[in-house]
Amino acid sequence: MLRGIFRTKNLDEILESVGGPQFALKRTLTAFSVTLIGIGAIIGAGIFATIGTAASGTAERAGAGPSLMLSFVITAIVCGFTALCYAELASMVPISGSAYTYSYATLGELVAWIIGWDLIIEYAIGNVAVAISWAEFFNRLLRNLGIHVPDWLTSNYRTATEETLAAAPHIFGIPIVFNVLAFGIVALITIVLVWGIRESSNFNAIMVLIKILVLLFFIGLALYYVSPATMTQNWQPFQPQGWMGTLTGAAVVFFAYIGFDAVSTVAEETKNPARDLPIGIIASLVICTILYILVAGVFTGMVPWETVRGWTSAQRGESLTMALETVAPQALWQNTVIAFGSVIAHTAVLLVFQLGQPRIFFSMARDGLLPSKFATVHPRFKTPHVTTILTGVAVGGIAAFATVDEMVSLTNIGTLFAFILVCVGVMVLRHKDPDRPRPFRVPFGPYLLPGLGALSCALLIYFLPEGSYWRFVGWLMLGLAVYFSYGYTRSGIGQKLGRPSRTPIGLKFAAVCFVLVAIGLFVIPHDVAPRELFAEAFNSSAEKHNQTLYGLLIIIGGLVGGALGIALGGSKTEET
Ligand code: ALA
Repeated sequence: MLRGIFRTKNLDEILESVGGPQFALKRTLTAFSVTLIGIGAIIGAGIFATIGTAASGTAERAGAGPSLMLSFVITAIVCGFTALCYAELASMVPISGSAYTYSYATLGELVAWIIGWDLIIEYAIGNVAVAISWAEFFNRLLRNLGIHVPDWLTSNYRTATEETLAAAPHIFGIPIVFNVLAFGIVALITIVLVWGIRESSNFNAIMVLIKILVLLFFIGLALYYVSPATMTQNWQPFQPQGWMGTLTGAAVVFFAYIGFDAVSTVAEETKNPARDLPIGIIASLVICTILYILVAGVFTGMVPWETVRGWTSAQRGESLTMALETVAPQALWQNTVIAFGSVIAHTAVLLVFQLGQPRIFFSMARDGLLPSKFATVHPRFKTPHVTTILTGVAVGGIAAFATVDEMVSLTNIGTLFAFILVCVGVMVLRHKDPDRPRPFRVPFGPYLLPGLGALSCALLIYFLPEGSYWRFVGWLMLGLAVYFSYGYTRSGIGQKLGRPSRTPIGLKFAAVCFVLVAIGLFVIPHDVAPRELFAEAFNSSAEKHNQTLYGLLIIIGGLVGGALGIALGGSKTEET
C-alpha cells in the first residue's frame, strides 16, 4: 500500500511550521477589516447577475420566481452551518490555507490535496466567472457613457454573434474574438495584490462601502418606482415552479454567498485570529444575507418572473440594471449608478479571491505538495508574489475565452464539495482531539449542525446541472494525476515516513491513467444525468452513441490502469 496517504498532520506541527522568517506574512488585519474582506468577497456577480437566472430559470432548469427570497434564506442557512464550522476551525488553526489546512489536520494528506485542488475551482474558476461578469457590466457602463468597445473584444467564441465574428479581424481565416476587458481587470488586480495586503485591504474597504450603498440605492429606487400593489401582484404565485424551482434557485444563488470562507485564508495576516476570524466570517454572512433577501424581494416585485425568462442571457447577466430599465426607462443616471456599483462590487470580489488563491498555493507548497517556489514571499512587499502572478495569468487567460454560466455551476459544485469536507472535518477533529482549546465552538455539540451542514450542501449539489458533475470529477482526476506524479514523493510528511525521493514508475503510470479518465469525463456528453449515460452508450442509434461509448471506455480503462499503477507504485514504495 501507499505509505501514509491518510496520515494527518499534527496540529501542533502545523502551528509550528508557520515559523521560518522567509515564510512570514505581515499581521495587519483586525476583526473589522476581516469582516470587510468577507463582504468584499461575498457581494458580487451573484446578486447583480445570477439573480435573474435563479428567478426565471432557463429552458433546461426550473426557476424560483418570487420564492427567490426563500431560495436566499435556504442557501443562507446552508452556508450558516458551514460558516460555524469554518469559524471553529479557523479559530483553532489560524493559518492561511483555509479548508486545505483543516483537512490536512483531520482527514489526511490525500483528502487535503483533493481539497486544495478543489479550492482552485472555488477561487480561480469562481474569479473567472466574476471577471467575465465584471466585463459585461463595465461594458454597459461604457456604453451608457457613450464609449463603444468593439464586440470582438468583449465576447468569446461561444457567445459571439455571426456579425461579431464577421467584423472581427482574421488571422489565417480564423476570426479573433476575446474578452479583453475581463483579462484587463484581472491583470490590474494582480498588480495591486503584489504591491501589498495593507494597501489592498484599504482599497477593499472603500469598495465594500460603495457596493452596500449601491444595493440600498437599488432597493430605494425599486420602492420609489413600483407601487406596493404591483409588487404584491408580481409575488403571486409565490412558487410558480414549486419546490423544484425554489431549490434550483437556491443552488444557483449559492454563488452569491461564496466568499465568507475566503476570510480564513488571511489568518496569518490577522492580528488576533482566534477572535477576529469567527467574528469576520459570521458578521459578513449575516449582513449579506439581509441585503440579499431585500434585493430578491424588490427584484421579483419589480418584474414578473416570466418577463425575466424572456430576456436574453446577456440581459439576465445584468439583471439589476435590466430590472430598473424595465420599470423606469427614463432613470438613466440612476441606472448608470447601479452599473457603476456593480463594477465596484465585482472588483472587490476579484480582489479577495485573487488574494485567497495564492495563499492556498502557498500553504500547499509549504507542505511540499507543490514546488517550494510557490511558497516564497517578496522580500520588500512581503506578499506571495510568485503564486499571485501565476493565479493572475491563469484566471485572466481563461476569462478571456470562457462563458460565465458554466463557470458559475462549476464553482458552486467545487465549493459545496469543499464545504462538505469542512463540516466533516469539525466532527472528526472533535472526536480525535477533543481537549484542544477551541476559542469558538459550533453550538449544540459536534454532530448536529456540522452534520446538517454536510447534508444540506449535498442537497444543493443535487440541484446543480449534470454537466457540472462531469467537469468537476474530471478536474479532481487531474488533481490525482498531479498528486501521484509529484506531491506524493515530495510531501514533507511523506519524506518523514520514508517515501522514495523519486516518483516510482507505477505512480507515473497511474498519473497518466488519471489524465485519461479526466479526458473521458470531458469528452462524454455533458447534458445527461449519470444513469442516462449508459443507456446512451448501449443504444447504437442514440444521437451521441459513439461519443458516449468511447468516453466511457476511456474512463473505465483509465480507472483500471490507475488502480494497477497505484498497486505497483505502492509495492515499490514498500521495498524502497
Ligand atoms: N459571492 C461572489 C459573487 O457573487 C463570488 O460574486
